[in-house]
Formats: sequence, structure tokens, C-alpha cells
Amino acid sequence: MKNLTEDDIVGNYIIQPCSMEHVKRYGEIYAGAFSCEPWNDHWKAADAEIHVREILEMEQAYGLEYVMDGEVIGFILGSSMLFSYGRTFEINDLAVDPAFQGKGIGTTLLERMLEDLKAQGMAGIHMITATDGYLPEFYEKYGFRKVTEVMLMGLEEEDPGEDGHEDIIKKRIKAGRDFIMKFNDVEGVPEDYETDQYMKKPQPPLAKAPMTGQITDLPKDFSLLDIDNDFLGIINKRKSHRVYTDEHMSLTELSYLLWCTQGVKEVRGKAYATLRTVPSGGARHPFECYMAIRKVEGLEEGLYHYLPMNHQIEYLGNPEDMDAFISESLCEQTWTAKASVVFYYSCVFYRAEWRYGIWAHGPVLMDAGHVTENLYLASESIGLGGCAIASVEPGPANIAFGLDGVEECVFYAMPVGTVKEEDSKAEADFYAFVKEEGL
Ligand SMILES: Cc1cc2nc3c(=O)[nH]c(=O)nc-3n(C[C@H](O)[C@H](O)[C@H](O)COP(=O)(O)O)c2cc1C
Repeated sequence: MKNLTEDDIVGNYIIQPCSMEHVKRYGEIYAGAFSCEPWNDHWKAADAEIHVREILEMEQAYGLEYVMDGEVIGFILGSSMLFSYGRTFEINDLAVDPAFQGKGIGTTLLERMLEDLKAQGMAGIHMITATDGYLPEFYEKYGFRKVTEVMLMGLEEEDPGEDGHEDIIKKRIKAGRDFIMKFNDVEGVPEDYETDQYMKKPQPPLAKAPMTGQITDLPKDFSLLDIDNDFLGIINKRKSHRVYTDEHMSLTELSYLLWCTQGVKEVRGKAYATLRTVPSGGARHPFECYMAIRKVEGLEEGLYHYLPMNHQIEYLGNPEDMDAFISESLCEQTWTAKASVVFYYSCVFYRAEWRYGIWAHGPVLMDAGHVTENLYLASESIGLGGCAIASVEPGPANIAFGLDGVEECVFYAMPVGTVKEEDSKAEADFYAFVKEEGL
């Protein structure tokens, strides 16, 4: 290991080679650091000590510790191996006591390690790190790149066991909470980050272009409909309907529902934004509306796409078995396949990301709520009924509507059908378990 020079002593801290004498402390630091974000592993300090000791004991190990006021508060450690092209160093661990994180200690250790390894003539330096979060960017600053020629393969236990499952579930719950709580406070994003709109990148289209061009104009004269205009009455009456009488709705009714949920009232500027019958963060309106139409007067059964700029629909085709498609795409909620129309909403992500970048995704979900709420109210106002559906299986829906599932993905749906008062008992049966289980 390299001898210390005066450069190693900066302020009241010292960077010096790791020593087996401090292995217990390394274990504590390691366990603390890797039990926090972004890893959230559950290390016991004793196990972490063994982990570090085993690396330190390697003949080709090299490590540096960061000592402040006489106490070790961080370390970096790895070992080298000889390959045909020269000796290559693998950084195994970089850990800083959580109480001292965010102060540049990890950065200092890494920079010093890289200097030392360069001086030692290493042919390469490798490391394994998380694919997500701030770490890839942290290492990229030092020239690390994702190696695409090789990949990490693992033979891991398939069943993580009860504790493992609990961990996975805890992590998912935490990620979900963070998404809601911190969607505008994303870790590791550089301070000077700007979204594509701010960088003057071209704006994506306000709505998707026709896909097949087999277009039907929708009637816009809603005076033909018997609309209940008692606003408060509609609000009070609104409820989820899961029992449908399996009859046709009229084309004007379908047109009215599409108008009330995604209709374009105005274009702001030359082509900056659409102003629609629902609000949307930044007027991005990142949704496309697709439909599985079973029973609409004058329309062939099939899959359709709404063209909001001209208030039209286009025919996309017909699945082999419409009812099976609807059930499969809505997680086997078979009652949905009695609706006259199932509305499927996709998100065209970049339409929102262009303006809001990393902050786009929370508002997308908020916007989706406005769309289906209007669909509930509009349906109710003309005597139809529907039920919002979060349990969407995007795979079959994306395939059916020809979406890639990456740039655009179905994520929300709502069957709407003809309903009658006498079915209220059948409706109530969906919640019979509440009484049965004494809830
Ligand atoms: C975002 C969202 C997702 C929903 N997903 C489903 C669903 O997958 N299946 C279902 O039967 N109901 C679903 N519902 C309907 C709710 O169960 C319903 O709104 C709730 O029970 C309250 O009843 P109400 O709408 O009649 O007031 C969903 C509602 C919303 C708003």
C-alpha cells in the first residue's frame, strides 16, 4: 500500500490506507450505509464486518479510510486481478457513515482512490452499482460508463422467503409513498437540470395523428340528448355501476361522453396547447383515448381511437373475441364485458415530460382523475353508468391498440353501459362481503 504524503492530510481529516485494526468500525459504517437509501438492505454490523474483512484479507486488496478527528467515518475498498490486458481493479465498497453523508466524503475518497489506482498503473477499474437513482450519475462524473459488452448474471434463490418478500413489499410501499410525497424533490438530480421545453427542444404533437384513417365524424348537436342538467343532483347521484343491461348507446351519446372527457374547445397559441373540457397540468393533456366498442348504434363492433382535434373516431380493427379481450385487459373483471363501450386511456409520456421532465408523472395521474370523473358525471347525466378501473393489464391492451408500451401505454379504463334501476340489488351484491364479514 502507498505511503501517506502531506497531501493526504486535509483540514482536520486524514485519508489513509485501510487497516485490519479498524475492520469492526468498517463493518458498522457499511451496515449503516447500505441499510439506507438507495439500497435499503438490512445488514447486521457483524455480517458487514465479515464482508469487509474478507475483502481486506485478499492479497491484492487496496483501500482507503477517511478519518476525522480521530474517528473513521468512511472507507473505500476493493482488490485487483490480473487479466490478459493488464491488472484490473474492482471497487467493492464505498461507504460513509450515514451521519456524515452528503458532505463530499464519498467524493473525496473516490477521487483519491482513482488517483492512487492510476499511479499504480491499473489497466482498468470496474464496479457494480445500482441501475437507478443517483449512483450511476455520481460515477459517470468520474468517467465510469455502463459496460455493455458484459452483464452481471446471477444464480439467486427464486423465492426470497417470507422475510425477503416483506422487504420487497416494504420497498415498493416506500417507493410509492416517495412518488407521491417527493415527486418534485428527486434525489441526485443536478441543480441546473432543465426540462426539454426550457432547452427549447421541439414540442411533441398535441394529439396523436390518425392511425388508420378509417374515420367517422361524431355528431356535436347534443340538444338531441335528454341531458339531466340538475348539477347537484348529478353529483349526488354519481356512483360506480358494474351491472349493465347490454344494450346499445347511441352515437350521439358516445360523442357526448368523448366531448365531456377529452373534447378540445380551443388551441392556445399557434399549437402550444389544447384547452379541453377537463383541466390538465400545463395543459399538456398527455392522454389518448381508445375504445372497445361493443354496442353503439351505427358503429361496427371493434376497437377505435378518438381524434380530439376534429372530434372524430377512427376504426382500428376488431379483436377475435371482443368479450375475452375486454376481460383479459381488465384483469378478468368479467362484468366489464357487458358494457356498451370500454374507454381505455393511454399516456403519451413525452407530451408531459417535454414540459415537466422528471416531475411529469405525478400530474399525469392527477389529470387522469379529472377525465374519469367527467366520464362518471356525463354518463350519469344521460342515464348511463360506468366504473373507473385501475386494474388494467396493459400488455393485451397495448397490443390490441398498437402501442409500444414504452412511449405510450394504457394505464386506466372505464366501461360505460346502459343501466336500469332494478339492477341495484345485483349492484349491491358486489359488496355483499361487507355485511358477510361484518366490516
Ligand atoms: C382510480 C380508481 C380505480 C378503480 N378501480 C376499480 C376496479 O379496478 N374495479 C372495480 O370494481 N372498481 C374500481 N373502482 C371503483 C371504486 O371501487 C368505487 O369508486 C368505490 O367503491 C366507491 O364507489 P362509488 O364510485 O359508487 O362512489 C375504481 C375507482 C377509481 C376512482
